[in-house]
Amino acid sequence: MKNKASTAVIVIPTYNEADNIGKMIDYLNTKTFKDIEEKKVNKEDWDMKILVVDGNSPDGTGKVVEEKAKKYSNVFLYTETSKDGIGAAYLKGFKYSMEHLKADFVFEFDGDFQHPPETIPVMLKAMEDGYDYVIGSRKVKGGSNPKGWGFKRVFFSEVGGFVARFIMFFPFKNFFKVTDPTTGLKVTRVCGFVDKLNLDYTHLYTKSFGYKLQLLFETLKLGAKFKEVPLQFHVRNAGESKIEASTAKDIFRVAILIRWYDDFTQKFLKFGTVGFIGFLVNAIFLNLFSKFLNKPWPWMFSAELSIISNFILNNTWTFKSQKISAPSDIAKKFLQFNTSSIGAIIIQTIFGTIAETLFGTDHKTLYLAIIIPFLILPYNWFMYNTFIWRKKKQSK
Ligand code: GDD
Ligand code: MN
Repeated sequence: MKNKASTAVIVIPTYNEADNIGKMIDYLNTKTFKDIEEKKVNKEDWDMKILVVDGNSPDGTGKVVEEKAKKYSNVFLYTETSKDGIGAAYLKGFKYSMEHLKADFVFEFDGDFQHPPETIPVMLKAMEDGYDYVIGSRKVKGGSNPKGWGFKRVFFSEVGGFVARFIMFFPFKNFFKVTDPTTGLKVTRVCGFVDKLNLDYTHLYTKSFGYKLQLLFETLKLGAKFKEVPLQFHVRNAGESKIEASTAKDIFRVAILIRWYDDFTQKFLKFGTVGFIGFLVNAIFLNLFSKFLNKPWPWMFSAELSIISNFILNNTWTFKSQKISAPSDIAKKFLQFNTSSIGAIIIQTIFGTIAETLFGTDHKTLYLAIIIPFLILPYNWFMYNTFIWRKKKQSK
């Protein structure tokens, strides 16, 4: 690999952590970074820095950090004008790390000793192995919640974590890969990931703890090579948690917003709506044409009208980011679209006939109700995305 040492910045947001932050900075510099230098776990050289993002704490946290910065040249302080939420603090810290500290990797690390510093070298090791995004998980083997946690906090953490995971990712692969979506311990590669994220914190659905979910979702969406390492989450060393009772509700709200506004969801909902409109067009014109035409013409004309409606609505709405607009392309794609629709009719005919042969002719509507969502919908979705409105490959 490369010879030059990579820079990793441990970003630590603080609000009233005067009793913790000095000890933390000392511990990281005298113990953790020494271990990294001596390559106890690691293979490569690392340039380790600490950036404290303080929410202008009234307890003098900033003063403590300033003193430490005089002692250690790798310690930096960014002071916010006021307490602005942990999510906003981290994004400000990321930006600062990129612009002023030459960060190749940024850590999210809390200042209260709940995240064991010993996990940092382990996470760096994963980065050496080529991962882009590594998080500490309390839910994998070797990870754990604090012993001192009461039933309520454990309940919220377990159930809340699972619900968030479900809402954001089900049924896709990240639902199975991400076991601890609300974890606070993470490291992210800057090149290709942090530098591609929107670091303007006004875009966050919440400036508070739910930002974790959003950054997680956005980073995975960028295609990050992802891994979890065990996190033994400790009880707080001193001071108080800034988590509030409303946080659980906030996290739930954020998870829903993330999934709802995701490009994929929006497309899929529009695709479903267009399909339903197509069905209505088909039914209405079937009845209308039947008044003055004999079979099979009403069936044929109404089906074609619904195909036309589907094509136009999908092109101008569902897939408007890949809109086909040149007249020659429209002609070509419309023909393809018709061919693809014939495919759907064939699938429906084959499976409908098989079902009737096996289970009798009494339950036609039931067969249709199964065939459409489980076969026709996925078929159409696949054909539209891979052939008709194929996304142009973006060069990295
Ligand atoms: N600058 C700034 N502004 N820092 C803040 C703010 C804020 O508004 N709120 C909290 N912090 C700092 C704290 O001082 C601490 O260093 C760190 O952020 C974590 O805050 P805690 O208040 O200790 O959070 P927690 O321990 O209850 O929650 C932890 O576990 C959650 C999962 O259960 C955090 O790691 C969360 O990120 C995590 O989601
Ligand atoms: Mn904490």
